Amino acid sequence: MSKKAVYSLMSLLVMAMMVLSACGAPAATATQAGTKLGVGIVLPTKDEPRWIQDETRFKEALTAKGYDVEILFSQGDSAKEKANVESLIAKGIKVLILTPQDGKAAAAAAEEARAAGVKVIAYDRLILNTDAVDYYVTFDSLAVGAAQAQYLVDHATGTGNPLYLYAGAASDNNAFLFFEGAWKVLQPKIADGTFVIKNSSEAVGLQDKAELSRDEMGKIIGQVTTNWDFNTAKSLAESNLTVAKAADKGNVFILAPNDGTARAIADAFAADKDVTSYIVTGQDAEEASVQYIIDGKQSMTVLKDVRTLVADAISAAVAFLEGKTPPQTTTYNNGKIDVPAKPSEVVTVDKDNVKAAVIDSGYWPASDFTGLP
Ligand code: BGC
Repeated sequence: MSKKAVYSLMSLLVMAMMVLSACGAPAATATQAGTKLGVGIVLPTKDEPRWIQDETRFKEALTAKGYDVEILFSQGDSAKEKANVESLIAKGIKVLILTPQDGKAAAAAAEEARAAGVKVIAYDRLILNTDAVDYYVTFDSLAVGAAQAQYLVDHATGTGNPLYLYAGAASDNNAFLFFEGAWKVLQPKIADGTFVIKNSSEAVGLQDKAELSRDEMGKIIGQVTTNWDFNTAKSLAESNLTVAKAADKGNVFILAPNDGTARAIADAFAADKDVTSYIVTGQDAEEASVQYIIDGKQSMTVLKDVRTLVADAISAAVAFLEGKTPPQTTTYNNGKIDVPAKPSEVVTVDKDNVKAAVIDSGYWPASDFTGLP
């Protein structure tokens, strides 16, 4: 072949590559120097800062390693989640990192991935009722609920303290783990009269039981679910306060499942003239809640350092790509199998340690807040 022919062949190839990349061919898979990492990531929604955190931290970690990544969001819709997974499978991923919108509904997508020879990593939320889950990257969610409850216990004195319970979405296995962890700590303090439950007849009916079955927890969660939605949380809190008498208010204690719902619930309680003070829990160390804590509007959060979760997910994916097995310290039963996992530690954060825990640790920049202690 003449030199000229080689050059024109090469320019044709370059043009073809440019056209392909303009079509977005490598989207949603991480690539390095043109090599496919072979990992696809699907997160549940862009509407909660928690999952934007994960997106940002994934991008930071992968860019630092020289990878290019695009992450797909399911926007609270299991059908969209399945379509996302299918498009990633079609693009040739070898490992899927998936946070299910609905733990049970995600089984079908996981099974499709398994059938295509893709390793499935459940990320933060467990995929339920299927054997098509290879690994679970998670925080210790029982410890999250226990930390929230312990905070309420540590700030209560005397007896008869009004307690309002709120929970996450029943479609999310974590909502059960958080509640289970919290109940274990709260129940003895309800039994001894420190707290009096004010907003759940199901919880009152079960308050003498130290351990609850999943069905029993489901009944309580059904009554106090926020569905992980700020507006639902706010209107549920408002309707609870409308029904409650002035005597059921005063200095109140609120188990709120995460930061987004905590802010919504706290706003509702702060607006009630019969609430003199409140202690409210949260989790995720979202920036808006860190500001609420500095301002004294939210009492605590549980820091789940997403940088750790992202690093664990990436190293698990790399282990699978290299034909190895990621580290395991325990298993989580998903209704069908025991899924191997290595849960990460969580940290209680309030006004006293907010600077050390979330600023000095480099989690959020000081410049994003006002009035830091
Ligand atoms: C996560 C929380 C999050 C919640 C709502 C849970 O599964 O563990 O960090 O706040 O979902 O999205």
